Amino acid sequence: MSTTEEILANTAVNEDDDDPPLLSSRALEALREFLSEQSSARDEEKEEEVKLVSEDWRLSQFWYDRETAETICEEIRVLWESTGSSVACVACPTLYAYLKRNAPNISVQLLEYDKRFEQYGSNFTFYDYNQPEDLPLALKHAFQIVVVDPPYLSKECLEKVAQTISFLAQPQKSYLLLLTGEVQRERAAELLDLHPCGFRPQHSNKLGNEFRLFTNYDPAERLVRAMISAQETTPGHSASTSAFTAD
Ligand SMILES: C[S@@+](CC[C@H](N)C(=O)[O-])C[C@H]1O[C@@H](n2cnc3c(N)ncnc32)[C@H](O)[C@@H]1O
Repeated sequence: MSTTEEILANTAVNEDDDDPPLLSSRALEALREFLSEQSSARDEEKEEEVKLVSEDWRLSQFWYDRETAETICEEIRVLWESTGSSVACVACPTLYAYLKRNAPNISVQLLEYDKRFEQYGSNFTFYDYNQPEDLPLALKHAFQIVVVDPPYLSKECLEKVAQTISFLAQPQKSYLLLLTGEVQRERAAELLDLHPCGFRPQHSNKLGNEFRLFTNYDPAERLVRAMISAQETTPGHSASTSAFTAD
């Protein structure tokens, strides 16, 4: 018998008067059990969400939605499998938090301006893009995977961030992922030889600017597949089917 049937079967109906039906003690017990099971199922669901600090718009903080964060993490995990390299997350704390949860074997360093992330201990390095190379020497050319989401969409900001990327990345072969506005397309190509792939990052709070993922390698079909599945579940989400040299 289902819980609802059990509750109904145990409901004492007084047909002689107009009073609302009363629940028997057995029905009440079954109802309590049912509600408590539902609430623990909801708690489990919540636990799956990665906990993030609240966005501070004065710092240009716009967190990715869960699907975007998990898709990029999976891409980084694939790159890590072929390199075994540490990952530098520059100004993208959401990715750091998801990587720590989804791929705890990967060594990740978060470079961030917001000191609330000092909570990550030695995995946090204070970073101000205005001082692009004012970083510990131990981080110089220490990463084959560098993922960056600059705080601003200006030329000046991207130029300085490009200096930081060159400082962090291993010169021979590094995978670079830049998440920023479509408006930076030409500059990303000029400064870092990065090009948009088909994947379009989405944010928890919808932004007016169209965002792109620019890379220095071809992620082939991986991110396109993720994007198409997002499109199937999100009405109005537009997608290109060509990777790397997308639209
Ligand atoms: C556009 S947000 C990117 C966040 C990303 N979408 C995420 O979900 O993790 C830009 C990031 O730059 C950081 N930021 C703000 N001012 C900065 C500065 N002067 N130097 C470096 N980073 C800064 C913000 O704290 C924020 O995490």
